[in-house]
Amino acid sequence: MAQQTEFSPALLDYVRAVSLRDDDILAELRRETVELPMGQAMQIMAEEGQFLAFLVALTQAKTVVEVGTFTGYSTLCMARALPAGGRLITMDISEKWPMIAAPYWERAGVSELIEVRVGPAEELLAQMVEQDGAGTVDLVFVDADKAGYRGYYEHALRLVRPGGLIVLDNTVFFGRVIDDGVHDEDTVAVRELNSFLLKDDRVELAMLPMADGITLARKVSTGRNVC
Ligand SMILES: C[S@@+](CC[C@H](N)C(=O)[O-])C[C@H]1O[C@@H](n2cnc3c(N)ncnc32)[C@H](O)[C@@H]1O
Repeated sequence: MAQQTEFSPALLDYVRAVSLRDDDILAELRRETVELPMGQAMQIMAEEGQFLAFLVALTQAKTVVEVGTFTGYSTLCMARALPAGGRLITMDISEKWPMIAAPYWERAGVSELIEVRVGPAEELLAQMVEQDGAGTVDLVFVDADKAGYRGYYEHALRLVRPGGLIVLDNTVFFGRVIDDGVHDEDTVAVRELNSFLLKDDRVELAMLPMADGITLARKVSTGRNVC
């Protein structure tokens, strides 16, 4: 097996320098968010935003669901990659964070594509399954409370069409997943979900050691195990 290249901070700087495409709206939203308590830890990294946009375009997604809006950086990146008439439903337990996002979405010309739903994601997702039905979504991005991930994953799996994609953020959870001394609820939930996903033949699986760990689970219709 080939060796994983060790990414030093200098090498990561190089990767960003030759691949990250930035603009004023994204940079200003990052600057405003970093001033908030926990802002930097909560917001996805710029390269992850670019990657999410890439995935939306690659899968030709028209309907996207996001669990965990915060100040709307990932929302903005994904919404910009939607086609005209596309739809992004983003969920957050708090209404104050999406209010910060709104002017940036407006400036980027994507407000019309975005619908914010405020409340506990578990309930909002269950409502969506009930109202819109299974297989009605192309891509779900999950980036909220880690203890809820397993429930969000099951709802997401109902919502996405066969071939649709579930993207889970923070799946190495700041490295805590391999720290035997860490047993908090969120870390345990991420560990258990990672182990569960390895054996879940309802999805094809890829786990990327990028940002804080990004897991891609693509719904299969036949239950076949692909490698
Ligand atoms: C890590 S942040 C999301 C970051 C966002 N993706 C971005 O790019 O800026 C997690 C968000 O999930 C929200 N959240 C936490 N628990 C939740 C729950 N039970 N239901 C819905 N949203 C929740 C928080 O309010 C927070 O805004």
